[in-house]
Amino acid sequence: MTPGGSAGTGPADTPPGAAAVAHGVWAAPGRVNLIGEHTDYCDGFVLPFALPQRTVVEASRLDRPEWIVTSTLAGETVTFDLSAPVTGWAAYVAAVVWSLRDAGYEVPGARLRVDSDVPGGAGLSSSAALECAVLSALADLGGLDIPLAHRPKLAQRAENAYVGVPCGIMDQSASTLCREGHALFLDCRTMATEHVPLDLAGQGLAILVIDSKAPHQLVDGEYAARRAACERAAELLGLPALRDATLPDLSRLDDPLLVRRARHVVTENARVLETIALLREGRLREIGPLMTASHTSMRDDFEITVPEVDEAVETALAAGAYGARMTGGGFGGCVLALVEAEKLDTVADAVRSAFATRGFAPPATFTALPAPGAHRLS
Ligand code: GLA
Repeated sequence: MTPGGSAGTGPADTPPGAAAVAHGVWAAPGRVNLIGEHTDYCDGFVLPFALPQRTVVEASRLDRPEWIVTSTLAGETVTFDLSAPVTGWAAYVAAVVWSLRDAGYEVPGARLRVDSDVPGGAGLSSSAALECAVLSALADLGGLDIPLAHRPKLAQRAENAYVGVPCGIMDQSASTLCREGHALFLDCRTMATEHVPLDLAGQGLAILVIDSKAPHQLVDGEYAARRAACERAAELLGLPALRDATLPDLSRLDDPLLVRRARHVVTENARVLETIALLREGRLREIGPLMTASHTSMRDDFEITVPEVDEAVETALAAGAYGARMTGGGFGGCVLALVEAEKLDTVADAVRSAFATRGFAPPATFTALPAPGAHRLS
């Protein structure tokens, strides 16, 4: 069962022609992932949707190969021409310029002003939102004819090769391809997509996002270690990727740690497919147990949760959520809880009070509705 068909509203499948524009404003969103964690770099399945929170880039073309970038959040302006490496937040911008140029596109110089309401460091893909908003802006400023379907890989390459983060393809795909009111079922091997309707409000439901505010520690090293373990397990099994593994295959692995890591990926891919089957039939409430099983697998087999997110999941479930799970790379970040809309306050209050009891920093909460992917605002 792979992605099939497509439906819904949102960005068109091809960008709006190749006529260069001198000035404009572009936006690209953060995302949550409904289910399918650490499966993207195993050639597996993911099911993210875009958030209304987004990064906005106001951009004007310059007539020289120079980029002058101002970040409202950082309160600073960085100017670069790619003759020297760029570091810090502006590296994500320089990375996109580099990636496009490396792929043969004639990227125009530009003045860019960046602002964002995607919370940073919360596992909501603020980096991908920045990359994808900048990519959209530069593509239109340069009149570059870059099909939407090619953009996630260009943004991912920017992050992998320039910034040096070994992320998969999920976040850049979500920020580019998502459609309002839909989740994005993505096959990370074939890049086939299906826009699956997610009418939460129509069914009286809501997704509560709980930002655990847990301090991210060792995130980059642990992410790379998980990825390396998955690649090693596939290699030992003689398979191209863990996407191709079955549970019985895992008995051929000697190292119990690799078995646990691989078991997470194999069972998580199966849970994505079960979730998709339920969503296609409009049985939204029934995906709850799959979300919770995903969390348990991330906690026990993949070992990427922290006490704050485990507490948020357990408390949300005890307060009546149908399912709850951490979303994103792990070691902190956000939890999603699927709840009756009328129970939103009860569940959020229960989590706040449990955090206070445990002596954790107060969590932030908001509801998530599926928003559109990257597009030009004006
Ligand atoms: C981060 C990465 C993604 C993906 C998730 C885990 O968000 O950027 O590519 O691997 O973690 O699912």
